[in-house]
Amino acid sequence: MRSWPPLFRACLAQAVAFGFLALVLRAGLMPRAIHGTGVLVLLGTLAVGTGRGLGLSPRWFPFLLGFPWVVLLLVRHPAPGWVWPVALVLLLVVYGGGILTRVPLYNSNRAAWEALLALLPPYPVRFADLGAGLGGPLAFLARERPDSRFRGVEASPLTCLAAWLRTLPRRGNCRIRWGSLWREDLSGYDVVYAFLSPAPMPALWAKAVREMRPGSLLVSNTFTVPGQEPLRRIPLPGRKDACLLVWKF
Ligand SMILES: C[S@@+](CC[C@H](N)C(=O)[O-])C[C@H]1O[C@@H](n2cnc3c(N)ncnc32)[C@H](O)[C@@H]1O
Repeated sequence: MRSWPPLFRACLAQAVAFGFLALVLRAGLMPRAIHGTGVLVLLGTLAVGTGRGLGLSPRWFPFLLGFPWVVLLLVRHPAPGWVWPVALVLLLVVYGGGILTRVPLYNSNRAAWEALLALLPPYPVRFADLGAGLGGPLAFLARERPDSRFRGVEASPLTCLAAWLRTLPRRGNCRIRWGSLWREDLSGYDVVYAFLSPAPMPALWAKAVREMRPGSLLVSNTFTVPGQEPLRRIPLPGRKDACLLVWKF
């Protein structure tokens, strides 16, 4: 279970805590001293304990502790029924692509786009953005390098649509497709760029080693591959650890 995505483990921890407390209450075993907010604190604490057992990082603890309070609030002040399916669908179309791969949506900044541009060889190149997000890097590079071919793959439907619209004026040398980066064949690219998260980097490296051609470049924004020293590390302004990491095959 420790290999399950953290979101599943967090939901499981909550379910175990709720289930356990329900059984204790039903059996009449709850000490009289614990009632009201005490029950909510106990629920959160049980969920944190279970979450720890399931290997969740401490960053999940505020969610595990706060969830029972949110449930109570919603029981007392119920939201209209349509809010939940609409919120779920919105979350899925924007973030759904990254739930299982544990890659959220955040955008690289213009400094990263310019550093990428400076990395491109002077001859026409084929460039892929794995997890294209809102298409910022692709739109910029396709405009600056009309001689080269740019491709993006994005798993979240609405995000993909936004990237598609953004790169529409560059249709001549830039295409975005909706799908999984794991199905993209990397053998046809000179430069492959990814801004993902620490979680998929070992699998991405294995894929790159299998598929990328000699001389091609793998560029990761910020997230490194454990045990693989990059050829170059280009610092970026902004976050303390922001940089482009470059490997040459
Ligand atoms: C951090 S954003 C990077 C956006 C863009 N590349 C940039 O640099 O601005 C990562 C994107 O990868 C997408 N993503 C996550 N897992 C994916 C997968 N398996 N296949 C395709 N896209 C994925 C997410 O939906 C998210 O939009």
